[in-house]
Amino acid sequence: MLHYRNEVLAVMNQKGGVGKSTTAELFAEFMAVNLGKKVLLVDTDMQCNTSERYVEMTPVVDDPTNEAGFVPTLLPDFDPEVDTHIRPDSNIADIFDGLVCEPRETAFNPDNEDDPIPGIIDVMVGHPTKLEQVNGRYADNSVELVENIVNRLQEVLHDPQYGDFYDLIIIDTAPTRTPLFRAAMRAATHVVIPFEPEQKSLQGLLAMYGAVRNERSYRNGDRDVQLVGLVPNKVRSVVSSHREVLAYMYADPHHSGLMPPKGIVLPLTAEISARDFKKVKPDSLFKLPRSNKQRQKGEDMMIHIARKVFAGHALSPEIEAYAKNRGRK
Ligand SMILES: Nc1ncnc2c1ncn2[C@@H]1O[C@H](COP(=O)(O)OP(=O)(O)O)[C@@H](O)[C@H]1O
Ligand SMILES: [Mg+2]
Repeated sequence: MLHYRNEVLAVMNQKGGVGKSTTAELFAEFMAVNLGKKVLLVDTDMQCNTSERYVEMTPVVDDPTNEAGFVPTLLPDFDPEVDTHIRPDSNIADIFDGLVCEPRETAFNPDNEDDPIPGIIDVMVGHPTKLEQVNGRYADNSVELVENIVNRLQEVLHDPQYGDFYDLIIIDTAPTRTPLFRAAMRAATHVVIPFEPEQKSLQGLLAMYGAVRNERSYRNGDRDVQLVGLVPNKVRSVVSSHREVLAYMYADPHHSGLMPPKGIVLPLTAEISARDFKKVKPDSLFKLPRSNKQRQKGEDMMIHIARKVFAGHALSPEIEAYAKNRGRK
């Protein structure tokens, strides 16, 4: 029997490039910068975009199998005498060997002298080649695969030690239906699906709903997985096909209940793509002035997600208070 103790939001879509990492990062930043919450970001994608954004990684020059081109740095205070359950390059792939993954500190914390924020973002970093190996370790549907990979992330992330410290755990996921995709689904209490409003994306969304339904039928009792909804991303309101696809989705019963309130989207905008460059200041959409239109749009979407994830939760009144007062500060 699996026990679900913590709030775990998985950002999922089988397609690459739709904004999974972006949505995971924006939501983490919104919660930490604007609401002062403690967030643990878990990077299970072998591309490790999220790890690279927040944590310094080490370039690799001599390993042709490592297409991402970097690996996690060594822990600065690693002591082999004491740290027997941790590897010096501690990363999320280690949990599948029965080891501990040490959350890494990022610049998003109250002790950052240059740019303190009220909350915290810590990251369990990925490892490009080791995560790849995890996916290929066992035969499809073998008992070992389910016990050692698919269920393992769930067991780790629902450890009370994380829930006691963090308000929320966010998993950035791999694009394909790999064992790691299944592990993220198993660990999740909530799932959010970013997508681009294009005709060819719609079939993939139906497949995602099917994956969530499958997971619900697997869980017995303790806690179901909630599909909190869709995040229309890279939306260009001047493009008629975008408007048409969104209108279709608001009318279609498969999608309509999962859509945010009309007008709430993440637009295709330089304020969001600028985040790809590490040196850009400010380093978060939510550190731009409150008057910035793109920040406001991003916030509208993040408030919507927060309301869904924390519906009926102790944090719900704080989210409502923020939503109510933000125009006046
Ligand atoms: N709303 C947006 N506006 C501009 N660029 C975006 C937006 N959303 C995502 N991007 C960019 O698109 C690329 C893919 O996004 P990403 O979040 O990495 O997708 P995924 O994780 O699903 O593969 C990244 O370079 C990202 O900066
Ligand atoms: Mg990604």
